[in-house]
Amino acid sequence: MRVAVVGTGYVGLVTGSCLAEFGMHVTCVDIDKTKIDKLNKGQIPIYEPGLESIINRNTRDGRLKFTTDISESVKNNLVIFIAVGTPAREDGSADLQYVDAVAKQIADNINGYKVIVDKSTVPVGTGQRVKGIIKDITKNKFKFDVVSNPEFLREGAAVNDFMRPDRIVIGAESEEAVAIMKDVYSAHYLNEAPFVITNIETAEMIKYASNAFLALKITYINEVANLCDLVGADVHKVAKAMGMDGRISPKFLHPGPGYGGSCFPKDTQALSYIAKTYGYDFQLVNTTVEVNELQKLKMVEKIGLLLGVDHSAQNAFKDYTLGILGLAFKPNTDDMRESPSITIINELLEKGARIKAFDPIAMENARKIFGNRVHYCQDEYETAEGVNCLVILTEWNQFRKLDMNKMKAIMKDLYLADLRNIYEPEKMKSIGFKYTSVGRS
Ligand SMILES: NC(=O)c1ccc[n+]([C@@H]2O[C@H](COP(=O)([O-])OP(=O)(O)OC[C@H]3O[C@@H](n4cnc5c(N)ncnc54)[C@H](O)[C@@H]3O)[C@@H](O)[C@H]2O)c1
Repeated sequence: MRVAVVGTGYVGLVTGSCLAEFGMHVTCVDIDKTKIDKLNKGQIPIYEPGLESIINRNTRDGRLKFTTDISESVKNNLVIFIAVGTPAREDGSADLQYVDAVAKQIADNINGYKVIVDKSTVPVGTGQRVKGIIKDITKNKFKFDVVSNPEFLREGAAVNDFMRPDRIVIGAESEEAVAIMKDVYSAHYLNEAPFVITNIETAEMIKYASNAFLALKITYINEVANLCDLVGADVHKVAKAMGMDGRISPKFLHPGPGYGGSCFPKDTQALSYIAKTYGYDFQLVNTTVEVNELQKLKMVEKIGLLLGVDHSAQNAFKDYTLGILGLAFKPNTDDMRESPSITIINELLEKGARIKAFDPIAMENARKIFGNRVHYCQDEYETAEGVNCLVILTEWNQFRKLDMNKMKAIMKDLYLADLRNIYEPEKMKSIGFKYTSVGRS
């Protein structure tokens, strides 16, 4: 089985590498020459636990190649995955220009039967759109099938998620395409991963419906946490007891500063836009998007409350230096896309704060966003030195066991805003911190 994966980002690189690990011959293609050059030198352009060794092993064994040559990749492979970005446009709709461009390139180079697999997250109807683009160019000269095979991996756990998925969704219109896709995923089949075989439109909808539901679940517990703060309840106990109900499940019930990342923000907006184009007002998703934005700003209000300043005043934080621990939208990734840290830090800077910051992996990407408006530190302790307040924004494991007595000695004032609830409030207070968290005040 020979496979090409077009788009070598978080999804494409993991897909290509893991399929090679399962014994397939895979060519990963990207238009970004710098990225491909790096990969050909054995340098991994993203941080994803476990990925480097898989890439090294499979390139060494000749099952995994990297190239910018899409023409040869289309000609030499039976299955061609499209894994390019589908970012949000200004109006919230998914920008399909990269998907369209790949469809055209496939059409220009097709030389026999191909299965063209859309792995990017795309609006319902995109499979037919890709089919239309290829048909228009090739004038029915070659037989091909378009398949929707959405990806559900989580950044930071992508390799494990790809290797052991909860389900594999295949949306197709021909039995031949389904059989070939089952062959691609034969290792998963043997491992008894559940397969959902459906039409293209249903597969496309499954992805958006899943992501929007998860975003909604996070947003729900965030609002419950906000209310817990007001009524004196402990959101951890509330979430734990809720999660014991099999109908609810304990996952995605961790309150925090709002969801971020490359998927939930754009996918909720895209679903809302899709609904609108069909004349349907998807109120629950629209509200989720709005409430999530408010949650990020609520964190600034929370920091203000802790410090005893009116966060809404101009220059509210002008007398404060804040040390931020964690910039990525979640641990174990270098991805800064739509990270809540962006809104929160920008708001604090706007209100006059001085910001020191540290993230174990995402510093390079963070620099591209904040430039020299933030003072970047080498570690947690340099970040804490001389600050009025320490703010935990991403729950990296290494932040869970900080030497708080050392922190106490080096911080100017002992304010701690633990926006990921990784410390015990009573313990922090007993050490001498003025402490706040989300839903446990
Ligand atoms: N990142 C995730 O956690 C995740 C999870 C599930 C699904 N998805 C979806 O998968 C898709 C890809 O996401 P990502 O995070 O991997 O994106 P990414 O931005 O990390 O990677 C996209 C890659 O495509 C390349 N590209 C663009 N146009 C190209 C072309 N014409 N030919 C070859 N390469 C081209 C870019 O250079 C880039 O390297 C998106 O639709 C996303 O919604 C992402």
